[in-house]
Amino acid sequence: MVNGLTSASRTWSHHPPAFVRPDTSALWYLSRMSSRKRIAVIAGDGIGKEVIAQAVRVIQSVGAPVDLTPFDWGADRYLADKTTVPPDGFSMLARDFDAILVGAFGDPRVPSNIHAREILLGMRFQMDLYANVRPVRLMDASLCPLKGVEPRGIDFDVIRENTEGVYGNLGGVFKQGTPDEIAIQEDVNTRKGVERIIRFAFEYCLNHRKLDGSPRGRVLMCDKSNAMTHAGGLWQRVFKEVAAEYPKIETGHMYVDALCMQMVCDPRGFDVIVTNNLFGDIITDLAAGLQGGLGMAASGNLHPGKTSMFEPVHGSAPTIAGKNIANPFGAILTAAMMLAHLGMKAEGDQIERAVLEAVREKKTTQDLGGTLGTAEAGAWVGERAARCDMSA
Ligand code: NAD
Ligand code: IPM
Ligand code: MN
Repeated sequence: MVNGLTSASRTWSHHPPAFVRPDTSALWYLSRMSSRKRIAVIAGDGIGKEVIAQAVRVIQSVGAPVDLTPFDWGADRYLADKTTVPPDGFSMLARDFDAILVGAFGDPRVPSNIHAREILLGMRFQMDLYANVRPVRLMDASLCPLKGVEPRGIDFDVIRENTEGVYGNLGGVFKQGTPDEIAIQEDVNTRKGVERIIRFAFEYCLNHRKLDGSPRGRVLMCDKSNAMTHAGGLWQRVFKEVAAEYPKIETGHMYVDALCMQMVCDPRGFDVIVTNNLFGDIITDLAAGLQGGLGMAASGNLHPGKTSMFEPVHGSAPTIAGKNIANPFGAILTAAMMLAHLGMKAEGDQIERAVLEAVREKKTTQDLGGTLGTAEAGAWVGERAARCDMSA
């Protein structure tokens, strides 16, 4: 349930307030309607429900021209009727929506985690959302556990391959339960998959600027090719080939172990990092720590031209769920990222600005040193975002 709505057949609409309407002609209204974006909202489990309620509130507070449709996919639904994804669910999302806003999945009552796998990984794989973009931005020096790092020093993006690697769950178990048991977990790397994510990273580097307005200029590929030679060899070859198409972009390479060390010692040189599914998962939790913790990290699961999915990096955090203490800013920043992706850059910027001000004024949850609850922090950002003047 999000904001009191449980049925997928109901939609939230934000209608433009009367005072901004230039006139009330049917033509104007129709053209306005046609530009509205349709967003499926799947809050999921645990704190997912709490933080997504706040993300929705903030989207509505900036008057983004969107229609939001909630879906109840998650542990409660699975426990009630064994449904993880309803028949035709992914085709419905791709057909009927411009984007999907997701909370998190994972519930101690479902120890197999089957619903999380089928819903979350299902969306990534079956909708072919191959690029998981995870921005890492330090909003305020006080949020970083490292000494002497200023916000502009941490402003990079991890581009995580999202449809291959060890996540395909290929493999099996042989002689289970015996002393000779064998478990095989295959690491799948296709030429097509590696090439498209590396090319995505170079294009991303070309087309995105840092927060201070300066251009991005460096793509670093992260692997473990010294030990995983087959997959690493493919990544190395393809990286060199694709890099040759972008002579103006500087390139770099680091093994994932060395990169982790660098990230906690001095992350200031990172710009765009491209890596595989598993390494991308691990280094983005580490990177979340640099920006104030998991409660601050946003992400988008993209396939240019297709319906994409946006979710905070954190999970359902069962131990803090239902207590109104989870930090909603990762989900709210995720909503901003989604709006920008859908062409609503002004609204996305308004939301980011409001979160920045909340952080600076300590209008935050406890994890960031504030005293507000999840709902109160969301309300503060919503109110501030509604009156953020981006020209100031
Ligand atoms: P987690 O991200 O849920 O929590 C890790 C730690 O960070 C916990 O201490 C938690 O309290 C804290 N934390 C996370 N988000 C926070 C927030 N917004 N505000 C304040 N603190 C926050 O990861 P976990 O504990 O490894 O996993 C819990 C469940 O979530 C598992 O079932 C896991 O599979 C699932 N999970 C789901 C997703 C997803 O759906 N995208 C992502 C990660 C984990
Ligand atoms: C994430 C999560 C997921 C992942 C889990 C829940 C399968 O940790 O989105 O980072 O490993 O991709
Ligand atoms: Mn993760």
